[in-house]
Amino acid sequence: MTVHTTPVALVGLGSYLPPQRITNEALCERLDTTDEWITTRTGIRSRHWAGPGVATGDLAVEAGHRALKSAGLEAGPGAVDLVVLATTTPDNPCPATSPDVAARLGLGPVAAYDIAAVCSGFIYALAAASAHIVAGQAQRALVIGAETYSTILNPADRTTNVIFGDGAGAVVLSAAPDSDRPGLLLDLDLGSDGTGRDLITIPAGGSRQRATTPEPDADDCYFTMQGKQVFTQAVNRMTASSQTVLDRLGWGAGEVDWLVGHQANVRILNAVARGLGIPAERAVVNLDRVGNTSAASIPLALADAAASGALTPGARVLLTAFGGGLTWGSAALTWPDIVPV
Ligand code: UT7
Repeated sequence: MTVHTTPVALVGLGSYLPPQRITNEALCERLDTTDEWITTRTGIRSRHWAGPGVATGDLAVEAGHRALKSAGLEAGPGAVDLVVLATTTPDNPCPATSPDVAARLGLGPVAAYDIAAVCSGFIYALAAASAHIVAGQAQRALVIGAETYSTILNPADRTTNVIFGDGAGAVVLSAAPDSDRPGLLLDLDLGSDGTGRDLITIPAGGSRQRATTPEPDADDCYFTMQGKQVFTQAVNRMTASSQTVLDRLGWGAGEVDWLVGHQANVRILNAVARGLGIPAERAVVNLDRVGNTSAASIPLALADAAASGALTPGARVLLTAFGGGLTWGSAALTWPDIVPV
């Protein structure tokens, strides 16, 4: 699907990582793996995991607060009129987590819903929120990607344990009558292929294999991923979707200042950059410190790149993500003049 947006700008950015940092060495103490395997196969050195009792909504509230502050808004009624939360790890199977996040931020009776597009969730949430703004249904939206993958990982699965981390990132989108200011969302591309649904899945706990009777196999209650096949799909889909956006905007690879890809694996990021003809130095990488944070990945990478001074006002930024479903999406924007919190 193609979504054309014009008068929507990114006006605030916030992020939050739970304090507990899990190093590769710590994982090696309980799993049959090595720091050398993890760093060479993925590029990840450490990740953050939420402690017991901490839920996705708790991280989302922190990131949401910070994004509102970055946009110069007080958390309270009238700050935004829409909250869209992308997550694979909602606080409960029912209801959605976003109404609770909106309430805890004191945002009043705003529209609030969750998006389940796994690691592409943040791009899907951007598309949904910007479409509401373009349609005149909202003036300002809080878009959050938040995850606690540590709650769905099979403790015995070394492949997923070394990859995934917890965290949250959020942006504020606003109708932008002044289209000369940097920060405009310029284009979005979304896609899916449900024939690959089994490549990334939690088999049980939904209506197909219920959590109650007959009691599911314990392993089916955890997140599973067919890494090798996902790797190839991730490279191909992110490259093609990014190219679609570049072609529509008439941007050559040299006109992309920063490629901010879903932080799944540094080898995937490098392959996508190579496929697009973008130098690897122009690909933002923070997965070495946060791992794969799924729907939180893109806003956490943006926050990292903005804090390091890499993202400067007016820079041309290409976002791209791939995840379970299968789903994928890309977006282009110019970087706004904001201070991330
Ligand atoms: O976020 C949504 C999208 N997700 C992704 O894009 C993830 C995509 N996939 C990947 O990043 C990679 O496929 C992985 C990091 C998951 C795996 O890397 P790989 O290079 O594809 O490894 P592999 O699955 O082919 O496994 C190679 C070997 C196997 O051993 P044998 O069969 O060759 O003896 C695995 O059993 O590495 C073994 N292995 C490990 N060894 C040490 C798998 N995980 C580990 C581990 N430590 N943690």
